[in-house]
Amino acid sequence: MEELDQAKHRLESNGFLDLKVEEADLVSEINRLRKEKNAVILAHYYQEPEIQDLADYLGDSLYLSRAAAEAEADMIVFAGVHFMAETAKILNPNIKVVLPDLKAGCSLADSCPPESFTEFKKNHPDHFVISYINCTAEIKAMSDIICTSSNALKIIESVPKDRPIIFAPDKNLGNYLMKETGRDMLIWDGACIVHEAFSANKIIELHKVHPEAKIIAHPESEGHILKMANFIGSTTALLNYVQTDHNKEFIVATEAGILHEMRKKINGDKKLIPAPINEDNTCACSECAFMKMNTLEKLYLCMKYELPEILLSEELIQKARAPIDRMLAIK
Ligand code: 13P
Ligand code: SF4
Repeated sequence: MEELDQAKHRLESNGFLDLKVEEADLVSEINRLRKEKNAVILAHYYQEPEIQDLADYLGDSLYLSRAAAEAEADMIVFAGVHFMAETAKILNPNIKVVLPDLKAGCSLADSCPPESFTEFKKNHPDHFVISYINCTAEIKAMSDIICTSSNALKIIESVPKDRPIIFAPDKNLGNYLMKETGRDMLIWDGACIVHEAFSANKIIELHKVHPEAKIIAHPESEGHILKMANFIGSTTALLNYVQTDHNKEFIVATEAGILHEMRKKINGDKKLIPAPINEDNTCACSECAFMKMNTLEKLYLCMKYELPEILLSEELIQKARAPIDRMLAIK
């Protein structure tokens, strides 16, 4: 029976079985399954709006990690990317964790292969390793502490001043943190394709049309974009900023999915403009193709078949958990 379900799931998620279910029906089916299976749905701000709207927990990487660690359910449905679901499994290993599309990876996590990082670490044995949460479980297991974009400054401050630091895998976040903290760090050469896509020239042109707009950016963006920004922060920090700042217009340089929650939270009299990307002849905003692999249909199917499931060895869970726990202990 289980094999039959798995085969059906594979066929359905590859589009071979036509679901023919209306969106409203999918939402009510998801709600029914959530109750029946005692499941919780965690979603990142970069998910499709309809997925964000039905999440039990919606937030940035730090918030979702805490929510996963504290979840008391039989199943965590992670509407995000692979490293996020993996982190949830590491933090709550006795609960089944499913991800709507197993191929929902992350260019930043991919830019730090464990074999090369092992070599890198070997060459700098005295360094304390801080890894951004956007990395694989193997990289986490090789780290002393994890950070997210919300707590990175605090995490760096927690490391004794005389201890040299390796920061991985995001060079843009790493360079930004070096400037902010004045700490010299050895930085891994990784990046996020979504945040590196913003066009400085197009943002300047856009700002000429909206001269009163404040530019706000995620620290995964390149240095020349961050230099233009009036405010830099994690997705949650950007969301709070547009709510509390008195300005009426904002150019937002992060993945465009965050605009959905921003629009729900602000007064209708504020204008949010997604920052344009570098592609010729378009004014497109930046979208994460990995995040967008999760659809409402796939969410429904993964809850129905409880697949694809995140499975990790006990040894890897133990090794990767210690540096995440160290991060969570820092309030
Ligand atoms: P935060 O939501 O933690 O700021 O992270 C952004 C991101 O790129 C997640 O992949
Ligand atoms: Fe990874 Fe960038 Fe997508 Fe975030 S936005 S999941 S860092 S590729």
